[in-house]
Amino acid sequence: MKRIAVMSSGGDAPGMNAFIRSVVRSAINRGLEAYGVRRGFQGLIDNDIEQMDKRSVSNIMQRGGTILQTARCDEFKTKKGLRQAIRNLNFHGIDGLVVLGGDGSLTGALSLHEAGFPVIGAPGTIDNDLGGTDMAIGVDTALNTVLDAVDKIKETASSHQRAFIVEVMGRNCGYIALISGIIGGAEMICIPEKPFELMDVVRLVEKAYVSGKTHCIIIIAEGANHSTHAIKKTLDARIEEAGFETRVTILGHIQRGGSPTAFDRLLATRLGAAAVDHLIRGESGKMVGLVGNKITTTPLRQIIDYRRELDMSLYDLARSLEF
Ligand code: F6P
Repeated sequence: MKRIAVMSSGGDAPGMNAFIRSVVRSAINRGLEAYGVRRGFQGLIDNDIEQMDKRSVSNIMQRGGTILQTARCDEFKTKKGLRQAIRNLNFHGIDGLVVLGGDGSLTGALSLHEAGFPVIGAPGTIDNDLGGTDMAIGVDTALNTVLDAVDKIKETASSHQRAFIVEVMGRNCGYIALISGIIGGAEMICIPEKPFELMDVVRLVEKAYVSGKTHCIIIIAEGANHSTHAIKKTLDARIEEAGFETRVTILGHIQRGGSPTAFDRLLATRLGAAAVDHLIRGESGKMVGLVGNKITTTPLRQIIDYRRELDMSLYDLARSLEF
């Protein structure tokens, strides 16, 4: 192993720059040459690859986004795209690749491994929907962003005596909603893993109103079985029962930006160095992750085939703290 490349892929997540810095610096300090692939798998196909040095990753640790940029790329899913990507890696004499991203990106990483190209994956997604790691890079920062928003929304909600529906990201996974609901003290948490009826929401808001609460915060995951719009419409139509007027805040992509937290910077730095170590040891087809504060590896095949289950005891915990 003489020359390795790193890329970020899929949705960006805070901490990606700290990861890139760690890969580049660890590789160079172990006597390797480091390359960066721009725009994920799209850049691999377009041969958008360049050498990086220690200075090219200076002063990026605290920045959100990714200096290598990222993309979602359907072309890579074709045999032609995969072959072109490997041709470009070979053209630069690259012996191993580190791929940082979510499940789509790690599926791409697995295709490279199965085609015989050495690759190590790392979890970078705010959704925290991957197995093989307790936390993915970006999750902690996204949670802090949501928490900050919920704290602020609660203030205005209380002042006006309103109910708020706060929609958070997570694709099909309720992790962000569940955790931010617990730590933000939400009155109700709506997640795909726990389907609910629209009337359940009306009853809950009514209960909050009758019990004398000055606000009612409902945190809903974007993948929940009823949409934010449907809940708002139902609450508006039944305002006599619900008591509170309702407002909606969709947090959207602000959850993907911002300076990474201390946790994400450290996680990214540990995982980046570990990815390089595993490539040097001749390993491939694995994802580095954090399990019980230890850096571990899990086969990429396992990550792709087995979806991470949400820990529903946390949902029960939220319910046990009900107002
Ligand atoms: O996977 C990260 C994520 O932010 C999801 O939570 C969300 O559903 C999706 O990406 C949004 O994707 P895009 O930025 O392509 O709209």
